[in-house]
Amino acid sequence: QTGLGALSLVAVAELGLGGVLFLQARSLEGQYGGLITAGAADEFVPGSVTQFAEGNFFLVRNEDGGFMAVHNRCPHLGCTVNWVEAKGKFYCPCHASSFNAYGEYQNQPVTRALDTFSVLFDDELVKVDTSHIQMRAHYSPDQIHYRN
Ligand code: FES
Repeated sequence: QTGLGALSLVAVAELGLGGVLFLQARSLEGQYGGLITAGAADEFVPGSVTQFAEGNFFLVRNEDGGFMAVHNRCPHLGCTVNWVEAKGKFYCPCHASSFNAYGEYQNQPVTRALDTFSVLFDDELVKVDTSHIQMRAHYSPDQIHYRN
């Protein structure tokens, strides 16, 4: 009984520490949950999709130079989607949903587009705000961000 009690206390202490570390990480720039600098805009070729695995997003640059940050989690049950360059699509490995380069869904079982994050510009730098996941039903062109 005493042993179990002690184990529980350790478990609670670890949970508490984990919570503190989690909160600290969320407040840091440059990590998932904060503002992530992707790089200089010119580094991203128009018509390209670049993976930022630790940021949990793909940075899409469309043919006319606009940017979109697409969340890498499938809206169906949360599996991590993969970008397949040869097909020009995102694929979910769990139940075979696919999405075009803008994250628009193309088949069931998923029923909405991939989530996005805000893209911001700081001079030539492209930054992605991963503190807030933006849900959407479908892709629309006004979701593309352009440097002014
Ligand atoms: Fe992606 Fe089910 S989790 S299709």
